[in-house]
Amino acid sequence: MRFDILTLFPEMFVGYFNHSILQRAQEAGQIEIAVHNIRDYAQGKHRITDEPPYGGGGGMVLKPEPIFAAAEAVMAGAPSSNSPVILLTPQGRPFSQQVASELANEPHIILLCGRYEGVDERVRSHLVTDEISIGDYVLTGGELAAMIVVDAVSRLLPDVLGACGAADCDSFSTGLLEGPHYTRPEEFRTWRVPDALRSGHAANIARWRREEALRRTWERRPDLLLSASLSEEDKLFLAELAAEQVEKDQKQVKD
Ligand code: 6GU
Repeated sequence: MRFDILTLFPEMFVGYFNHSILQRAQEAGQIEIAVHNIRDYAQGKHRITDEPPYGGGGGMVLKPEPIFAAAEAVMAGAPSSNSPVILLTPQGRPFSQQVASELANEPHIILLCGRYEGVDERVRSHLVTDEISIGDYVLTGGELAAMIVVDAVSRLLPDVLGACGAADCDSFSTGLLEGPHYTRPEEFRTWRVPDALRSGHAANIARWRREEALRRTWERRPDLLLSASLSEEDKLFLAELAAEQVEKDQKQVKD
């Protein structure tokens, strides 16, 4: 899969993309990431990329010409003519694991990082095909959001994670939060690894993990249980958790 990123600050991406799993995925040819400086496509001696808004008011607005020129240059070399052009903006649709897996089916996406007060509306209406936000807060620009999208999408691609990282069993892909993990030592400052994990009994370990995932989701994100796919055994376990909770709550009322 190919990612083309259009930004005024290409240097911001160097550290993140050149380490760990994303670095390995690029070396293995599983993903290709190209970061383009919008300023390289700006005209005139000063290569101006932003100007004050029509109608007055504070801040600066990104000009349309360099953004269109950068996007068109990138699309000229694209594998197909209908690659999504995604604007990163707090006004976009909320990013989620679901959106990441949709994007993972695309051979190529173009990510446009907004900055300052915004981009000229003609970029939105005539170039951009999708808009994404990474949460309900405002950042100084779309660069961090673009890194997050590349990361979340890349790890879903075949073979990008090692076998044991298996993206399809982690939080949000199963619809549940993951339960706790432990590694050596078996005892650390008197705190022991749960017996179930040391039993060597595969079925018991799997059941323990499932129950801890259910417990954690019940405690922290009960909203996720509404859309998770649950077995009859899972539902019984959740009923037990609910009964325990009622008992605790009743005791608290009495005390
Ligand atoms: Cl994509 N960009 C900016 N500037 N702020 C954000 C965001 C994006 N998502 C949440 N906040």
